[in-house]
Amino acid sequence: MAIPTPQAGSADIGVMGMGVMGSNLARNLARNGYKVAITNRTSAKTQKVAAKYASEGTFIPSEDVADFILSLEKPRVAIIMVKAGPATDACIDQFKQYMEEGDIIVDCGNSLFSDTRRREAELKAAGLHFVGAGVSGGEEGALLGPAIMPGGSKWAYDRLGPMFEKISAHVEGEPCCTHVGADGAGHFVKMVHNGIEYADMQVIGEAYDLLRRALGLTPAQVGEVFARWNEGDLDSYLMEITAEVLKQVDAETGKPLVDLIQDAAGQKGTGMWTVQTALDLAVPVTGIGEATFARGLSSAPEQRQAAQNFEGQAEPWQVKDREAFIEDVRQALFASKVVAYSQGFNEIQAAAKEYGWQIENGDMARIWRGGCIIRARFLNDITRAFEKDPELPLLIGDEYFYGKIQECLPAWRRIVAQAALHGAPAPVFSSSLSYYDGVRAKRLPAALIQGQRDFFGSHTYKRVDKEGTFHTLWAQQGRPEEQW
Ligand SMILES: NC(=O)c1ccc[n+]([C@@H]2O[C@H](COP(=O)([O-])OP(=O)(O)OC[C@H]3O[C@@H](n4cnc5c(N)ncnc54)[C@H](OP(=O)(O)O)[C@@H]3O)[C@@H](O)[C@H]2O)c1
Repeated sequence: MAIPTPQAGSADIGVMGMGVMGSNLARNLARNGYKVAITNRTSAKTQKVAAKYASEGTFIPSEDVADFILSLEKPRVAIIMVKAGPATDACIDQFKQYMEEGDIIVDCGNSLFSDTRRREAELKAAGLHFVGAGVSGGEEGALLGPAIMPGGSKWAYDRLGPMFEKISAHVEGEPCCTHVGADGAGHFVKMVHNGIEYADMQVIGEAYDLLRRALGLTPAQVGEVFARWNEGDLDSYLMEITAEVLKQVDAETGKPLVDLIQDAAGQKGTGMWTVQTALDLAVPVTGIGEATFARGLSSAPEQRQAAQNFEGQAEPWQVKDREAFIEDVRQALFASKVVAYSQGFNEIQAAAKEYGWQIENGDMARIWRGGCIIRARFLNDITRAFEKDPELPLLIGDEYFYGKIQECLPAWRRIVAQAALHGAPAPVFSSSLSYYDGVRAKRLPAALIQGQRDFFGSHTYKRVDKEGTFHTLWAQQGRPEEQW
């Protein structure tokens, strides 16, 4: 049976897309007292949500987009929560037909920030506001309070912000939502958040792998170690759920579930986007990059098969002081994690410069403290670091984090060295340490690279002792240098 036409202007806000995320976001809005217009491409889902959750609040279902837009109070706020890509464009095209100047379209899907920038510019020309809003926290977050990262105009945020702040997660009374910056800034920050999530998961994975290889711990024993770590600096949602995953026993076989799961990690693309964008901006996000490549390696069966009989020529593990080793791994994990966050913030800073966004890094760390997957205790320390110096060029240069890294360095070096000696892959642990040593180096072999580039491609070089651009005539007798 078709849904009857709703009353015009009866809803505070609308959600199109009654999939996992959209239906939960609509319920969250309704539970917080908003009258929520809902619709979906397949209208059976709209009816199901309206009927099943009627007791939670006011849902105003619509059969089609025309009725959906009509049901919204002006200036209208219509959220799109569908599969990112062409589906989002299809929804926007439909919305445009029925919207009026000053109305706001909000894309809460995981859209690529450059798509958001394009859409925002196109809709601005049509007199509409477009807000790309990153939403983190999965299904549970959408329902109970996610971290929300809206971009778009300040005007749009003034209309939309109070509603989003109300439904977002709250930590110490503060909402995990703030206006991130213009056009695609919100989706950019969400993308980097997801990239950091990749690195965070990988460093936990590397710690787990080392503890099993070196000490022969069972998954449940590693889970106990992680539960202990979760009471200190490493207190985070990811650490907490990892401990749970490791303790899980398969009901059918009685074996640790993690040992029965195929070791091929999937990805949906936001980590890849973070790395691709970092390359465009020339920002080294080695932690996120190695974490993304590690997933790629795990999911390359042909290459892994071809290498199964490769000799490692690695020394067998012989750990004398097991507790000291566990503490070393903890410190290597912590230091690598801080580096990954530091690099992620550098990517946000570079994009803000490139696209003219006014992004407060401290606010980003603050809104990530609740609702989202990377929520963690140490985000408070990151907020404090950026509050102290909003222009901080390196998070690892902040007094607190610098001190922490100094504490961890000896253990970090020991773990990276031992992983190499004993043939254990630890790509983020080791690349983060290399980054640390690279960024603090007085002099890098980049001077030699410049010489090579000038030799084969006349790419020129700068000198440390005088101004100007120089080229050596490598093919000529005596190789004279000329100024360009
Ligand atoms: N799942 C998560 O943890 C999570 C977290 C953060 C962000 N996100 C993002 O949230 C968005 C929605 O994810 P989800 O997990 O809720 O997806 P989902 O459960 O698979 O639902 C997809 C929704 O998209 C609609 N759709 C697909 N193609 C469409 C089209 N061409 N035109 C109109 N509607 C179309 C579907 O409508 P039908 O019912 O008619 O097929 C359905 O409502 C995605 O961008 C995702 O990346 C997801």
